[in-house]
Amino acid sequence: MPSIVGRRLVRLGTVVSTMDEVEALARAGEPEGIVVVADEQTAGRGRSGRRWSAPTGSSLLCSILLRPPVPPDRLAVLPLVVGVAAAEAIDAVAGVACRLKWPNDVWIDGRKVAGVLVTARTGAAGLEHSVVGVGINVNVPPTEVIDGATSLLTATGHLHDRERLLTVLLERLGTGYQAFVVAGGRPDLRAWRSRGALVDERVTITVGDDHRHGTFRGVDDDGALLLEVDDRRVERVVAGELTRGPVRRADG
Ligand code: BTN
Repeated sequence: MPSIVGRRLVRLGTVVSTMDEVEALARAGEPEGIVVVADEQTAGRGRSGRRWSAPTGSSLLCSILLRPPVPPDRLAVLPLVVGVAAAEAIDAVAGVACRLKWPNDVWIDGRKVAGVLVTARTGAAGLEHSVVGVGINVNVPPTEVIDGATSLLTATGHLHDRERLLTVLLERLGTGYQAFVVAGGRPDLRAWRSRGALVDERVTITVGDDHRHGTFRGVDDDGALLLEVDDRRVERVVAGELTRGPVRRADG
């Protein structure tokens, strides 16, 4: 069966954000599966209101429209499904082993090579659509890679074909998305778990000004992070920033 993801592909030069382009198409009634890919974003967006920047023509910047027929509360798992597809595509094309930092950052050797942003619009009838954004640092030169990040060029020492990476990403996402829909939004998360970074390590979860410490015990079937706190209780965390070890406070 041909994949829904990528059934239509729109290539653009400079946009504000591919998220906006796809959101506009969604509101105009576009069927799911369309992909917008751009060479440059003037205001690319990341999670938690952060910016996502990439030198022109250096990266894979795309957004995909999905209309999953699942209850809105199942959407929390979708970012993990997308993270797996991005990691598999990078492994296959660049031949590097990637891990996933909850919920969906793709890491090479502890540095972020790709990020995933998922937005959703709900109405009276439930979930109307979701826009999935993927940014992969492909040929960003080492001198332009920001702190804590990497690129495929930096990690492997040679350039990579963005077109091939897009093709494989859409294939993997097509497969993952189909499994997600068929399972009613309760897909098997083994592929995520096998790539999960920091599992069984001491971590901090930051939610606003609140820092929670414990041992990361993986994810449950809803995609929530499982944090074992010091009295052995396991808390579920549905949103937050995961970092290795205890957070260093400015006030000591
Ligand atoms: C993150 O890790 O914070 C998510 C980053 C997502 C970036 C991509 S690039 C393509 C798409 N357009 C955007 O403005 N953001 C996503």
